[in-house]
Amino acid sequence: MKEKIVVIDFGSQYTQLIARRIREMKVYSEVIQPNDVDKVIGSSSSHVKGIILSGGPRSVNSPDATDVSAQIFSKEIPILGICYGMQLIARHFDGKVRSSEKREYGNTAVKILKQSSLFKAIPEKITVWMSHGDDVRTLPKGSVATAETENRVCAAFEFSEEKIYALQFHVEVTQTEYGMQILKNFVFDICGCESSWSLENFVTNRIQNIREEIGNERAICALSGGVDSTVAAVMVNRAIGNRLLAVLVDHGFMRKEEVEDVRRYMRNGLGLNLKVVDASKEFLNVLKGVTDPEEKRKRIGEQFIRAFERESARAGEIKYLVQGTIYSDVIESAASGSTTISRIKSHHNVGGLPEEMNLKIVEPLRTLFKDEVREIGKILGIPEQILNRQPFPGPGIAIRIIGEITLERIEIVREADAIFREVLEENGWMEKIWQSFVVLLPLRSVGVTGDKRTYGYVVALRAVNSVEGMTASWSEIPLDILKKASKRITNEIKGVNRVVYDITDKPPATIEWE
Ligand code: XMP
Repeated sequence: MKEKIVVIDFGSQYTQLIARRIREMKVYSEVIQPNDVDKVIGSSSSHVKGIILSGGPRSVNSPDATDVSAQIFSKEIPILGICYGMQLIARHFDGKVRSSEKREYGNTAVKILKQSSLFKAIPEKITVWMSHGDDVRTLPKGSVATAETENRVCAAFEFSEEKIYALQFHVEVTQTEYGMQILKNFVFDICGCESSWSLENFVTNRIQNIREEIGNERAICALSGGVDSTVAAVMVNRAIGNRLLAVLVDHGFMRKEEVEDVRRYMRNGLGLNLKVVDASKEFLNVLKGVTDPEEKRKRIGEQFIRAFERESARAGEIKYLVQGTIYSDVIESAASGSTTISRIKSHHNVGGLPEEMNLKIVEPLRTLFKDEVREIGKILGIPEQILNRQPFPGPGIAIRIIGEITLERIEIVREADAIFREVLEENGWMEKIWQSFVVLLPLRSVGVTGDKRTYGYVVALRAVNSVEGMTASWSEIPLDILKKASKRITNEIKGVNRVVYDITDKPPATIEWE
C-alpha cells in the first residue's frame, strides 16, 4: 500500500468515521495520535498524500488543549482541519478563536461565499452538521473565508496556495449534505490520490510484509475461535505456513461442540498448525468455591496465561506472538479525549498475555474495522459460520453460570444454550439477533412434572440487538419461539423446571449477567 491520508485524532467521536469514509473511496486512510505525527509524517517513505485534523471535545484556548506538531505545516502536504482541527489551524497562523456567542449544534444552513477546490460541484447553499462551542473570530492573515453559517459564523476558510483548508462543520457525517463530495474533492482533486486501495491488495501486501518481518522465525498465537483471532491466525499462516503454531486453550467453558468445530475448520479445512490443549480440569480446580464475578474472571485470565505460557515453552524457540487486535481496540481510548493509544480492553481480553514472555507482537488487523476483518476473512476463504459468529466472551460460559461453577452446571448451560440456538436457527431468528445465550441462576424453584413435585434450576434466556455491544436492546423474539425453547429445555434437560426471558436493555443491565 502506497499513498494514504492520515487522520490526526483530537478525540472527536467521529474520527474513525473520517477514515472509514475515505476507505470507502478506495483510498487508504489511517487514524494516528497527535504524539505520533512526527514519526508518521516525518519519514520520507510515509507516502502521506493528505492530512486531516479531526474534531475534538476541547477548546483550543484551554490550557490542556492538545496541539499538533508544527511540522505538518512545513511539508507541503495538503491539510484539512475539521471543527477543532479548523481552530488549531486558525490559532497556528495567528487567527483568533473565541467561545461562541451562539452555539451551533445540529443541522445548520451554510452559504458558500467563494469558489474553492474544496467546494467543487457543491450548491451555493447547503445544510451541514455542526457541533461546536468555539468559532474562528479573526481569520489568519492571508487566508480567505469561503463559507459562513446563517449566524454569520465562519464555516470555512483556506490558504488555497498552500492547500490548507479549514471547515467548522463535520463532512464525515451523513447529515452534512454533499459531505462525501467535499471529502472527495479534498482526497482526489487536492491531494491527488487515486482510487486504488482494496482489501484484496491489502491482504496480499500484509501477508508479504509479515513474511518479510518474521523471516525464518516462528510465531505463536492463541486461537479462541472468534472472528478476529481466526482471521489474524489464517493471515499469518498464509505468510509463514506451519511456522505459526496456533494454540487453543480449551478452558472447558466453550459452547457445545465448539472446540470440535474449530478443530475441524482450522486444522482440516484451513490447514492451520493447531494444537488444542485440554486444560478444563485445571480451570475447574482454580474456580472451586468461587462465586464473585470479578474473581472468576481474574482466575480464568491468570490460568489462561499459565496454560499458554506452558505451551509456548514446550514449543521451543519462538520469537513472535500474533494477536487479533483490531482498530476499535486500539483507538477506543482515544475517542474519550485521551491523546495516547494505550488501553486495550482489559477485562475483555482474556488472551491478554504477559509482557515477560518477551515476544514481539504481530497484529495484522490493527488498522482494520470489524466489517473489514470479516471481508478479509472471506477473501482468505474462512467459512461463513466462523465469520458470522456471534460475539462470545473470553471466559465463556463460566460467566453465564451465576454462583459456583460445577461440572453439572456447565453441562446444563451448555445443553440449554444449544437448544436455544437450535430453536432460533430453525425459526430464522439467528441472523436477526446480535447475541443470544442462556444463563443459569443460582437458585431453585418448585415445579411439578407428572404427579411429582420437583425442585429444579431456573435458566434465563437472553437475546439482544446491538451495535458493537456498547448499548443493547432486548430482542422481541415472537412468543411462540420462546415457548418452543422453554418447552424443549424443560423437557430435555434434567434438573431444569423453569425458564425466564430477560427483558432488560443495556443500560441499565449489561449484556452478560456477570
Ligand atoms: P457486557 O456484558 O459488558 O458485554 O454488556 C458486552 C459485550 O462484550 C462481551 N464480553 C466479553 N468479551 N471477554 C470478551 O472477549 C470478556 O471477558 C467479555 N465480557 C463480555 C459480551 O459477550 C458482549 O458481547
